Amino acid sequence: MTDDIRSEILLHVNGRTHRLSVDNRRTLLDALREGMGHTGPKKGCDRGQCGACTVLLDGRRVVSCLTLAVAADGAEVTTVEGLADDGELRPLQQAFIQLDGFQCGYCTPGQLCSAIGMLAEHAAGWPSAVTADISPDGPAPELDAGEVRERMSGNLCRCGAYPSIVRAVLETASREEVTR
Ligand code: FES
Ligand code: FES
Repeated sequence: MTDDIRSEILLHVNGRTHRLSVDNRRTLLDALREGMGHTGPKKGCDRGQCGACTVLLDGRRVVSCLTLAVAADGAEVTTVEGLADDGELRPLQQAFIQLDGFQCGYCTPGQLCSAIGMLAEHAAGWPSAVTADISPDGPAPELDAGEVRERMSGNLCRCGAYPSIVRAVLETASREEVTR
């Protein structure tokens, strides 16, 4: 039932559908972590500044602490728990392991989801703030370290694993198509 303060919503999370009754003010992050037990997305700042809570919403990256659960009604939500394919880690996840893309790992779920969303944005030709030529008929931006740093700048890492994260993203981008 839907009233002034609560709504019934459907969330499709990592391929499973959940029917929830949520307070209209509840964030997607809290609905995922406390309502459904998806503790992969982390609560760092709870105010949109660290990226630890990043998930994919219909394939696009969002900070789930600034997304209301009701705004995700009917959407496909992918958290870090849903990235592996039948238990097999995706190339980006493997690259994070092989290239030391994390230390404590707290930011890693958000980094992974953000990187997947970012690579899809780049593949679609979206420019970033450091793309030199943003004219409509300009060349597709080359994905170099500067582009990755800018495009991932919303995801902080207090362990300072940035150089390895950039290497892992570039390694993945050079190897294969990562969107799905
Ligand atoms: S917890 Fe969402 S951006 Fe920090
Ligand atoms: S690996 Fe520790 S915060 Fe990023």
